Amino acid sequence: MSETSRKPKYSDSKHLPIYRYKAKLIQAVEESTFLVVTGETGSGKTTQLPQYLYEAGFSRNGKIGVTQPRRVAAITVAQRVAQEMDCTLGKEVGYQVRFDDCTCQDTVVKYMTDGCLLREVLADPGLSQYSVIILDEVHERSLNTDILLGLLKNNFSNPSKATKGRSFPLKVVVMSATLETDKLSAFLSCCPVFAIPGRVFPVECTFGSAVKPKDVESTAYVKEVVKVALDVHTSELAGDILVFLTGQSEIERACDLLFEKAESIDYRYDVLDQTVEGLLILPLYGSMPTDQQRRIFQPPPPGIRKCVVATNIAATSLTINGIKYIVDSGFVKQLNHNSRVGMDVLEVVPISKSEAEQRAGRAGRTSSGKCFRIYTKEFWEKCMPEYTVPEIQRTSLTAVILTLKCLGIHDVIRFPYLDRPEERFILEALKQLYQFDAIDRRGRVTKLGELMVEFPLHPGLTRALLKAASVGCEELLLPVAAMLSVENIFIRPGDPDNQKEADKKHRALAAKTGGMNDFATLLSVFQSCKSSDRPSSWCKDNWIHWRALKSAFSVETQLREILLRLQQRKDFPVETFDGNKSELFRRCLCAGYFTNVARSSVGKVFCTMDGHGSMVHIHPSSSLFEQEVDLNWVIFHDVLVTSRIYIRTVCPIRYEWVKDLLPKLHEVDVYELSSVAREEVTDEEMMKWETREAAKRQQEVSTVDVV
Ligand code: CDP
Ligand code: MG
Repeated sequence: MSETSRKPKYSDSKHLPIYRYKAKLIQAVEESTFLVVTGETGSGKTTQLPQYLYEAGFSRNGKIGVTQPRRVAAITVAQRVAQEMDCTLGKEVGYQVRFDDCTCQDTVVKYMTDGCLLREVLADPGLSQYSVIILDEVHERSLNTDILLGLLKNNFSNPSKATKGRSFPLKVVVMSATLETDKLSAFLSCCPVFAIPGRVFPVECTFGSAVKPKDVESTAYVKEVVKVALDVHTSELAGDILVFLTGQSEIERACDLLFEKAESIDYRYDVLDQTVEGLLILPLYGSMPTDQQRRIFQPPPPGIRKCVVATNIAATSLTINGIKYIVDSGFVKQLNHNSRVGMDVLEVVPISKSEAEQRAGRAGRTSSGKCFRIYTKEFWEKCMPEYTVPEIQRTSLTAVILTLKCLGIHDVIRFPYLDRPEERFILEALKQLYQFDAIDRRGRVTKLGELMVEFPLHPGLTRALLKAASVGCEELLLPVAAMLSVENIFIRPGDPDNQKEADKKHRALAAKTGGMNDFATLLSVFQSCKSSDRPSSWCKDNWIHWRALKSAFSVETQLREILLRLQQRKDFPVETFDGNKSELFRRCLCAGYFTNVARSSVGKVFCTMDGHGSMVHIHPSSSLFEQEVDLNWVIFHDVLVTSRIYIRTVCPIRYEWVKDLLPKLHEVDVYELSSVAREEVTDEEMMKWETREAAKRQQEVSTVDVV
């Protein structure tokens, strides 16, 4: 195949380990359907391979699609590749992440999150627009990547599916930075493995004394990390520092502290390496604005040491050149299913040993380096697992199971999973889908389920939105769904005076809607800002994140477009409702949040009604936190687990509104769903089951009534 016009502009890409294998890699992709590519992080897999395939002419048959588990990685890598190929981002090279599509008709190299590709599979199971799909960062084992792996494998074992809508065969490349390649190859019909040899330099690792086994839940590590980073700055030779923390607020705090302390350094006396004359501190986390992300990759000015304070994203997804020192907090923020509350909760947990090795390795890419672990050797031995558990085995599967069902895969238990989730997680997902009326008792997708799958939102929120649309009040729910899909809009400054001021403003915003409903506050903030003449200064005055609100405006438009499309269907549900607006609003919310209902228990403690019966408290950020009125029943958006379980984004409801929905929470026993999951139910079994269930339901309804 001949070379096309856009050649890499950056000559330094020729120095990457992958460069020598260009021709062989192209040949390997040409010769096989599936190919596993492995190589050290930073060897050039993500940025170079798609360009090689483009140059080799693969894009003549369709786009080259590259998936990433993280949105920041998809965006920054696309930026870099657009630069290297000397084209405008969004033209030949583009990206797509949830609610942000930066591609056009001409896009041939498309970076996207794995979630976006999964949505595309729903619309076009044969992926007919693509010539090559590259699943990247497979070692991260994100839920969506794991599902895509299974789907692509499935497609090829079923030739009619694989070729549907296609005139040429699809190539699939699976890229991973770690050693699980044998397992991957075995999974993909023993496909070839291409290993890019790379040189790694030794990294000297030391343990600290700050984090001991009993400190698992402590956040004191932020201070320690700052101290160690400053020590490195003053007593080590030139070379950049990469600090690993867990999330945005922590990172911002660490950067503030670092900045403050670095100010007082006297470079004549305090610093060992006299070529070092300053410290440049840069945060790196998921929801950061893109122009700031770009600065991370630029080399610092001469004499200046760069210190990047990042989340786990810098462990494998992004490679920053020039890093010589690592400061590792030993923690990561992870979404885990919390069996105590029966929900997925973002938790700060110790990283695995393999993750710690990966973090350390970032210091040894181009020369030897050092890694300072702030935790003790004992912490390493006792608290850190060997490997990270794949997401599919630790989070809610509700949304992906609905996707699989919509793709016609009914036997969700025997679906080819690279690592099988526990059966009870699959059954739990089926149960929730059944509660939301997305599937029927036979496990088949309902009309409502077909509508629900179209929205990139949590099924509960989608259910509430669809309910609102069916009674003609989507104007109330669209903004709320959008506001709950962006980062936190309320700014809470660090210093006490400003904090007081911000809290006061936020309370005033809540009071505008009666101060009793956090969902209504979100709606009101959205509307007030949108109708303001100068929305950015309105935000500034009210301590609201303007950037987050701008995203919310765009998300709302996109959700509205999806809804409008669905409303054209003849079978879109229509209901009538009489009652006032506040009641209507809250009743629509109940349709999606009846799984998150809590009832007042003793004092200000509430008890959830989902069978877990957890004792929960209203979070201080809620406008209901300080209310003196007696609340009886409430619904909530999510929970935060610390030493207590807090519910956030809360609103009071009346028992009558959920009375008919609550029994559904106890209607089916997950284990009875296991036969449904396999699509083996005979009519006779179904009848027996239904009779038994009806009797049980009768009993339970009366129990709830007594409550
Ligand atoms: O995918 P893999 O880890 O093998 O490497 P890569 O992400 O393709 O990175 C190759 C090189 O590109 C590294 O030296 C990165 O620092 C550089 N890069 C960059 O400078 N800016 C980006 N936005 C992405 C990568
Ligand atoms: Mg990569």
